[in-house]
Amino acid sequence: MDRVLKYGMVGGGEGSFIGDVHRKAIAMDGVCEIVAGNFSRDTVKAQRTGKKLGIQSDRIYQSFEEMAEVESNREDGIDFVVIVTPNKSHYDIAKAFLQKGIHIACDKPLTLEISESEDLARIAKEKDLLFCVTYTNTGCPMVKHAREMVKHGDLGDIIMVMAEYPQDWLINNVSSLGAAQLWRTDPSECNSACVADIGCHIENTVSYITGLKIKSLLANLNKIGEGMQLETNASIMVKYDNGASGMYWACQVALGNKNAIKIRVFGTKGSLEWEGEKPDDMKVSPLGNPIQTLYRGRDKLYPSAAKFSRIPGGHPEGTYEAFANIYLAFARALIKKKTGELLTDEDLDFPSVEKGVVGVKFIHSCLESNENGSVWVNFE
Ligand SMILES: NC(=O)c1ccc[n+]([C@@H]2O[C@H](COP(=O)([O-])OP(=O)(O)OC[C@H]3O[C@@H](n4cnc5c(N)ncnc54)[C@H](O)[C@@H]3O)[C@@H](O)[C@H]2O)c1
Repeated sequence: MDRVLKYGMVGGGEGSFIGDVHRKAIAMDGVCEIVAGNFSRDTVKAQRTGKKLGIQSDRIYQSFEEMAEVESNREDGIDFVVIVTPNKSHYDIAKAFLQKGIHIACDKPLTLEISESEDLARIAKEKDLLFCVTYTNTGCPMVKHAREMVKHGDLGDIIMVMAEYPQDWLINNVSSLGAAQLWRTDPSECNSACVADIGCHIENTVSYITGLKIKSLLANLNKIGEGMQLETNASIMVKYDNGASGMYWACQVALGNKNAIKIRVFGTKGSLEWEGEKPDDMKVSPLGNPIQTLYRGRDKLYPSAAKFSRIPGGHPEGTYEAFANIYLAFARALIKKKTGELLTDEDLDFPSVEKGVVGVKFIHSCLESNENGSVWVNFE
């Protein structure tokens, strides 16, 4: 673990949202160092961001194409690239770096089109490159513990899932949005707003915890809010491969909610409930026993979850630590790969490119169902 990996970033320029969160989270463990970037389409902002981060001037790039080309030819070139640009650009950027043999961490949703995400998965496999899609919740120790509980049969057979992700930031009309928010509601940039932005987090988190595969779904999407051209509310019914059913609600106009993802999983022997705004706690209801609240850093968790807990309970961990955990797993796997060691399933405990493909298919199935009058559509 001594080896320090070198990474570059595309996106994350001055005034943007998530790139800076990625950088701070990655810095937590001292395993990866940022050395290059094409931080913005705005060349002045790209330069200013790079300088502020202390990056050598010849490694602050004006385009991702130039960055992929130059970095792949440097002896000390980047080991991986972090892609934190708007959704529509992920495909071209990821493809450019994959083709140059550079490993990838890309934020969700992986791409706009299914064919694009499948193409990225194919190239990554052909070139034997690691590809992580940064679905944040999977980095939370309590989410990892929830997954272990399901795996160990603590909940019995899963019979129902109820999951919601309400926010209220789009309750104001489109004209009041800044550029960084506007692309999320713009049909020339995105094919979906609410499902692509937050609904896919529900799909991924439920899938991570339960291991269930969606067989079919029915979606009712609404464009609530003045001037909204894409959906801001999504009600989705789901049938899983084991016969269980689920209901997902994602909403960007639910007044009073900031980032309130909540997942409830019900089994024949117990249930659990986890909320993203209280990520250190989890409510567990074992059949025939009192309802409990488990706390990260205080209560006994399964070892593969406990190892991601960083500080004692009562000292809150959240979004930064979740991202850091994803990157730590990714970096450890990459170091092992570079030293020729075989990777185990435990090493690969970060969201894969294949999970990214499923996320894009989920978005498209919701759109298809809604466009056809909210009918059931098959989902492989
Ligand atoms: N995992 C999460 O919880 C989470 C949270 C927020 C955002 N995201 C995802 O992260 C991505 C970025 O979101 P954001 O809110 O930071 O967006 P943003 O609009 O705030 O920032 C995007 C940045 O990318 C730059 N950019 C755009 N196109 C570029 C290009 N072709 N080359 C170089 N730079 C380019 C912009 O100049 C800007 O600096 C999105 O895909 C979004 O869905 C994920």
